[in-house]
Amino acid sequence: MTGNPFSSRADWLNSGDIRPYVFVRPENMIANPGTRHNIDWFKHEPIYKNPLNIEELPFAEAIYQIEWKSFGHQDLAIPRWVFYDCAAMPGFIAGYAGRTKIIPKKILNLLNYSEENEWCPLSLFIIIPTMHKGEWVAYDLCSVNSLLPKEEQFYGLGFLSKAFALWYANVGQCSGMTQWGSPSLKLHSHYGPIEMIGAYAPLHTHAKTMTYRCEVTVNNWEKFFSKEPDLAFLERYGKTDYMIEPNNVESMIRMQERIQNNEGPFFLNAGDIAHKGLRDPLHIYKLKQG
Ligand SMILES: CC(C)(COP(=O)(O)OP(=O)(O)OC[C@H]1O[C@@H](n2cnc3c(N)ncnc32)[C@H](O)[C@@H]1OP(=O)(O)O)[C@@H](O)C(=O)NCCC(=O)NCCS
Repeated sequence: MTGNPFSSRADWLNSGDIRPYVFVRPENMIANPGTRHNIDWFKHEPIYKNPLNIEELPFAEAIYQIEWKSFGHQDLAIPRWVFYDCAAMPGFIAGYAGRTKIIPKKILNLLNYSEENEWCPLSLFIIIPTMHKGEWVAYDLCSVNSLLPKEEQFYGLGFLSKAFALWYANVGQCSGMTQWGSPSLKLHSHYGPIEMIGAYAPLHTHAKTMTYRCEVTVNNWEKFFSKEPDLAFLERYGKTDYMIEPNNVESMIRMQERIQNNEGPFFLNAGDIAHKGLRDPLHIYKLKQG
């Protein structure tokens, strides 16, 4: 896929003053990055940092600030040991960073970050490989946008952080977890057909968590910006009579039972979600027969 469908709303991506970063210990570096998915959005060389190098501590502390401030109110702030043991050691951490001298002072203040550092992190995404070959699990996505008023945001920062990481790390299958009603569902649904493998998760801190699996394809990525319907999805998947209501836990439990009864696989439609309010009921889709 070529071209730059988002230039008018996300021109920050082009300047080179805001670039992707890869925060991965040397042993976990990706061989042949960016060779699986055919898309030419990520033209700037990423900034490399080693999370196990204590000289990179200021950068990591700013990542913590983004994480804690964006997730703190949801009771999901990452403990330091989880970031170290479950992200820096086994996995792949990436995001966008801005040249400290060009980004607004307000952001440096929010992140308690010194102007002496050349690059300041602006977002965070974590994925770890699983025992199931080819499948990765994503468990953290956040951006400074969630701390800024709309007019001061870097449009697409959260979406492009995950897009960059999936592209760079050649991720074929990406699973993850998100809470019903979260704005992140608008992002997660655009990286490929999103199958709901769990509708209710009482084992989690938040039972109203949706668990998904996605075969990553770049076909629908630009529709995140254009908000056009995904016609290829609609050709393949049909609407069922089932719905998930983010305000109704019973609807989640009923879907969970259907999943456990092997009545699926069930999917969500990114085009639907893009045009809905966060608390609106969502239609469930299934593969069309024949
Ligand atoms: C969710 C999150 C990662 C999104 O990243 P972002 O940088 O704010 O979002 P992007 O700029 O990439 O995308 C903007 C789009 O996302 C959606 N969106 C983002 N925040 C939204 C909100 N509060 N309400 C509704 N839609 C929202 C919209 O579709 C928006 O596009 P639109 O304005 O054209 O409708 C970010 O808001 C965040 O860090 N939230 C707190 C942490 C969190 O809950 N993470 C999700 C864990 S699964």
